[in-house]
Amino acid sequence: MKINKTYIAPMVGRTDVFFRTLVRVISDSINLYTEMTTCDAYLYTDRKYYKVDENEHHISIQLAGSDPKKFSQCAKIIKNNGYDEININVGCPSSKVVKGAFGACLMEKPEILSSIVEEITEHTDIPLSIKTRLGLNYDENLDLLVNLITKTSAVGCQKFVIHARNAILGGLSPKKNRSIPKIRYDDAERITKMFPDLEFVINGEIGEVQSIEKHLDIFDGVMIGRKIYDDPVFIQNMQVHLDGKASQMTRLEILEKYLDAIQLMKHDKSNYLLLRHLFGLYYNTPKSKMWKKLLHQTISDDLSIDKLRKFKEH
Ligand SMILES: Cc1cc2nc3c(=O)[nH]c(=O)nc-3n(C[C@H](O)[C@H](O)[C@H](O)COP(=O)(O)O)c2cc1C
Repeated sequence: MKINKTYIAPMVGRTDVFFRTLVRVISDSINLYTEMTTCDAYLYTDRKYYKVDENEHHISIQLAGSDPKKFSQCAKIIKNNGYDEININVGCPSSKVVKGAFGACLMEKPEILSSIVEEITEHTDIPLSIKTRLGLNYDENLDLLVNLITKTSAVGCQKFVIHARNAILGGLSPKKNRSIPKIRYDDAERITKMFPDLEFVINGEIGEVQSIEKHLDIFDGVMIGRKIYDDPVFIQNMQVHLDGKASQMTRLEILEKYLDAIQLMKHDKSNYLLLRHLFGLYYNTPKSKMWKKLLHQTISDDLSIDKLRKFKEH
């Protein structure tokens, strides 16, 4: 199966438990990611109590920070909470993250990153990976990345997710950092050739099933963020194209299963949090406008979510 070589990208404000539930309704095989959480937020908030649901496997939790000891403290809890993998964020360019000296700026501090990997591998046996960029600012030389991979693989990290563009620190918002620095898949491929024994997942602007297939000829996995968020039914196209999976659900069936699933979950969340990930359900179809209107109304007027089940009758 090729679908289990694909990953949902970690996305703050998006890949929460509800979006993950929606994805799992559509596919039981695509790999899941949590949103990024800092080590402090994990250790000192309710997040540490969240136990992975059995439907969520394979799921990675993404951690950000720069204190190796905190990573190992988190790792012990994470293992017990059922996550399959820890991913270390070395790609976030936001000014807040730069101030905290973690995220993408750790590309310049491979010694700290190696200590983080050592701390996690010495104290737990949970698999780990690093999500990073090709380089920093406007320098297209791959030395920083090569150095990072050389040092961290030597102490136990065998898997790298490469967002195939640089991170521009200071000056560009995180949003612009996902479109302005240009995508360089060829440079990511060069890296795989330098480290043939390591595992590489490619990420960045991948939104067509044909390109996923092409990338899988070169890389061990493909990670997709915005395309799946904007158009979750795209996952069905991926399953058909990559694995010939014939049985497809209608959008209404997906909706019903999603509503059933969230109604079984114990939560006291607002309609907004429960429903906000459904705006893309009718993406690029004639019903899209009508669907979004109904969804907006259900959220803003706090209507019963069961009203959505009648959508086909509108
Ligand atoms: C709303 C949003 C939030 C994101 N949050 C994270 C994050 O928490 N951690 C991370 O490593 N990348 C984050 N990213 C970047 C994505 O993981 C991914 O690298 C990027 O969007 C490129 O992939 P895509 O073109 O398939 O969307 C975020 C992206 C978006 C759009």
